[in-house]
Amino acid sequence: MTGATPFATRELHAPGSAGDPWWRDAVIYQVYPRSWADADGDGIGDLRGIASRLAHLAALGVDAVWLSPFYTSPQRDAGYDVADHRDVDPLFGSLTDADALIARAHELGLRIIVDLVPNHTSSEHPWFGEALTAGPGSPERDRYHFRDGLGEDGSEPPTNWQSNFGGAAWTRVTEPDGRPGQWYLHLFDPSQPDLNWQNCDVRADFRSTLRFWLDRGVDGFRVDVAHGLVKDPTFPPFGTPPGGLLEVTSDAPFWDQDGVHEIYRDWRELLQEYSPERIMCAEAWVSPADRAARYVREDEFHQAFNFEFLDTPWLAEPMRDVIAGSLAASDAVGAPTTWVLSNHDVLRHASRLGLPQDEEPPNGIGPEDLQPDAALGLRRARAATTLMLGLPGGAYVYQGEELGLPEHTTLPDEARADPTFTRTRGAEKGRDGCRVPMPWTKGAPALGFNDTGAAWLPQPDSYADLAVDQQDGVPGSTLELYRQLLALRRERDLGRAGLAEVEGLGDEVLAYLATAPDGTRTLVVANLSPESIELPAGTRVLVASDELVEGGLPTDTCVWAEI
Ligand code: NOJ
Repeated sequence: MTGATPFATRELHAPGSAGDPWWRDAVIYQVYPRSWADADGDGIGDLRGIASRLAHLAALGVDAVWLSPFYTSPQRDAGYDVADHRDVDPLFGSLTDADALIARAHELGLRIIVDLVPNHTSSEHPWFGEALTAGPGSPERDRYHFRDGLGEDGSEPPTNWQSNFGGAAWTRVTEPDGRPGQWYLHLFDPSQPDLNWQNCDVRADFRSTLRFWLDRGVDGFRVDVAHGLVKDPTFPPFGTPPGGLLEVTSDAPFWDQDGVHEIYRDWRELLQEYSPERIMCAEAWVSPADRAARYVREDEFHQAFNFEFLDTPWLAEPMRDVIAGSLAASDAVGAPTTWVLSNHDVLRHASRLGLPQDEEPPNGIGPEDLQPDAALGLRRARAATTLMLGLPGGAYVYQGEELGLPEHTTLPDEARADPTFTRTRGAEKGRDGCRVPMPWTKGAPALGFNDTGAAWLPQPDSYADLAVDQQDGVPGSTLELYRQLLALRRERDLGRAGLAEVEGLGDEVLAYLATAPDGTRTLVVANLSPESIELPAGTRVLVASDELVEGGLPTDTCVWAEI
């Protein structure tokens, strides 16, 4: 329908056009290979398992799949510690399995994005072994950040920098002659030494890695720690920011340094040699939004994760601000905005939104901690997703969120594998609770994750009733809600729509009018107020995150409507 609307609007974003490339409005589903589907039954997911389950994603209606790392790795950080960037870890299969997976995805019309981990290698990467053997001042050491320690005997770390996983960001090595020697930098675990991006070998090697996967047919890369590759060469002191290490402050000497951008311009040129178009998405925990937008300038990344959106509590004012701010910041550089609510590093949003919204969410939850309100969390998660998928740009969906999976909040400490847990001596529970294997079939071994019942992390009891087979075809289930949202999003071209804020529905109501390039109009309304509200006259509801009550939109519910 077109014509006048019964409400005032404020333009936020202009519509795209029919010829826009796929990635500008793609919905990309993150598969965490350890936990999605396990064909060989060893309790850890694998590439053959993933290929066998891809039909689930085609039926869900996503455009692409992003796979977290499956490369050769000692798995100290669940594969983000890569020992060979151009091979598959036997845990996950082989290069032949990777080829088969890429081919199967393409057959189903799904694009494949793989992870690239350029900030660090595993300490089991051959280069690190060579660096240790070659000794101080060698070209081999120059590929990493080796420094002499402070103090008379060099026993103090070179700077006070702290690792993201807790403890010092430097570890001292033993030199080939057996004496205590230099220190190397690791912003994450000691098993993840940071690479020196001023070194030519490093630059050349990553170009080879990009080509290796591009030549195998991948459609793009998600780039790990994209804001961290370059360090301030003066290595100044830097304490822990008040919000913890992951708080991104522009003055941190290892985050968001200007020098990172030339690396991405170089990669973009390389990608441009390939056809059809290949993309890269930045994992850059950078704020404010205009600083993050520098990563998606025309000649750099195609996309960057919108972590400000993920970090925003379920409160109307900050939500409204982040939506308008994200669109403005990306529009200023001509890039699409992305939206994301969950991934393998944060509390699942079905649990996060069931916690008090006026406090920072914890990094992991244990049995003794405050437990989320599961019903409230799920209700808000469904509303938040309905809101997110109604917004223009790209969107990321994390495996299992289409089932409304909660975080596993009662994992026993002995089961935990995230290095954060050990490095903080349990002060932070870490990220295992969002990485638990997927439930496919109620009553099957490991809920259908494999045939043997083995699982590298135990699944909580609540996952049985949320398994795919329990929701498939069930009206009102979270799975059917996601399918419906994704189908309607495509049909009504919401990803390429222009967006205007609708005014006058109340301070705690988020309301947007999305206008597709062909003029199709969709009203997206999320009610974050405690009271039920009336929808504007002349609207016809297309999909609702939960049931409407007497025609009104209850609290923590979001609808899409025709107008
Ligand atoms: C970000 C990844 O998402 C996370 O899982 C990993 O631990 C760190 N980068 C280090 O690679």
